[in-house]
Parts: sequence; C-alpha cells; structure tokens
Amino acid sequence: MRVRILGVGMGPQHVTPEVADALRGCDYVIAAQKADDDGLLAARRAIAAAHGVEVVAVPDPARDRDPSSTATTAEYGVAVRDWHAARVDAYAQVLRERGGTAAFLVWGDPSLYDSTIRVVESLAEQWTAQHQPAHLPLEYDVLPGISAPQLLAARHRIVLHRVGQPVHITTARRLRDDIDAGQRNLCVMLTGTLDLTGLDDWSIWWGANLGTDSEELVSGRVADVSAAIGDARARAKDAAGWVMDVYLLRGPATHASAP
Ligand SMILES: C[S@@+](CC[C@H](N)C(=O)[O-])C[C@H]1O[C@@H](n2cnc3c(N)ncnc32)[C@H](O)[C@@H]1O
Repeated sequence: MRVRILGVGMGPQHVTPEVADALRGCDYVIAAQKADDDGLLAARRAIAAAHGVEVVAVPDPARDRDPSSTATTAEYGVAVRDWHAARVDAYAQVLRERGGTAAFLVWGDPSLYDSTIRVVESLAEQWTAQHQPAHLPLEYDVLPGISAPQLLAARHRIVLHRVGQPVHITTARRLRDDIDAGQRNLCVMLTGTLDLTGLDDWSIWWGANLGTDSEELVSGRVADVSAAIGDARARAKDAAGWVMDVYLLRGPATHASAP
C-alpha cells in the first residue's frame, strides 16, 4: 500500500517531469469533492486524465465555518482537526477498498497551507494501528510543486524579501497580529476580504487566479491600488466563478531596511 503526495503547481503547465512520472505509476488519484470547489476538482481531473490515471472523488466532509464557534485560534484549530479526522476516515475507506498506489494531487506545493501531509500521516498511523505487523505498512512520499507565492514573485518579477532579510508567510486571519508583532515583509495567503486599513504607505504585490486564464495582477502603494485590487478581484471571480489571491505586503523602507 503506497500513497504519493504530488504537488502540481497552479495547473497542468506546472506539472514537473518528476511528478508526471510518479503520477503515471499510480493506480488512481483520490480527490476531495467540495460543493464550492469544482474548479479545483476539474483541474485535478484534467491532470490525472492527461496521464491516464482514474480519479476517485470523495465527498469532502463538512468543516465548521460558523464564525461564532471558530472565532478564536483554539476554536479554529479544533474545527480543522475534526475536519481532518473525518477526511482520514473517508480516505482510509477508499484505500481499504482499492489498495495499490494512490496519489493525492496537491494544488501548489504540499508544504504550504495544505492538510494532505497531515492527513496522510494520520492515515499511516491509523493503518499501522489497525493492521497486523505481518501486513505491509502504508508508505508515503512527497514531491514538490510550484506554490502560489513562487508564482506571485515570478509574475511581478520580484524577490520575496529584501537582500538578506526574511519573508514572513502568514494568513489574512493572522495579519494584524503579525504586523503588531513587528513583521514588515509578509506574504499573505488564505486571504478572505482584503482589509488594509492603516497601511496606506505600505507596498503591495497582489495576484489572483495565478496561472489561469483569469489571472489578475496589481502592484503599488496600498492607498493607490486598493480600489484596483477590488476591481481585479471581482473580475477574476466573474471570469472563473472562483477567486484565490495571494499578496506580498511590505512596510515603507526605512534607512536601515533599504533597498
Ligand atoms: C489552501 S492554500 C494552498 C496553497 C498551495 N499549497 C500553494 O503551495 O500555494 C490556498 C491559498 O493559496 C493561495 N493560492 C492558491 N492558488 C492560487 C492562485 N492560483 N492564485 C493566487 N493565489 C493562490 C491563496 O492565498 C489561497 O487562499
């Protein structure tokens, strides 16, 4: 029994020869089927079909998204943990029924804001606990893909950090706390609504639906480009029916931090 976690970047054009080769050696792809996520399932289906591999779509268990019960970081963590546990059960059933080598096609790279590695880790633990030592363990490996921050940087032709300085990768949910803690160069994912109040003089490099036909890019001083970002976001959503965006946000350069 083997599971391969394959990063597929932002679409078929980013599937590396290494990932393509691994995918062709798999018996099937397991893909979550979300009511609001058909675009991503369709992208996975296209990649699997291009390499002659069947997709087993598994209805994704519902996640608690009620703001009143997931407001704190701890509550959010519990909601995500419960969701992962339900996913583990759903995928374990497919693996038991089908056996062989299964692939998970991860959007972007598996190392960034993606639960597949954690879910498969739990699957492997559950597998070992439930099967006799005489059985083979569930083995898994991970192959990388191009992530949204990498594509954002390439499209804007920028380096994500100043010379020799760090970049802080975070979520919109944590943005204010991270800025309050002193972060001045942040790559923001899982964006939700864009609220850049009070950051007028910061610089932003923003991108939506990167790597797709509905890609949108905007960059500049926050106060100057906020409205343009709102318009571009709406355009991307109209064109594709969904929108995912990512941005780099950088505080005004001080003498010490330039260039
Ligand atoms: C669940 S995370 C997955 C990230 C992915 N594993 C990666 O390596 O980029 C989804 C977030 O990634 C970013 N993202 C993913 N695809 C994107 C795209 N095509 N264009 C812009 N941002 C994208 C958005 O911030 C989105 O909310």
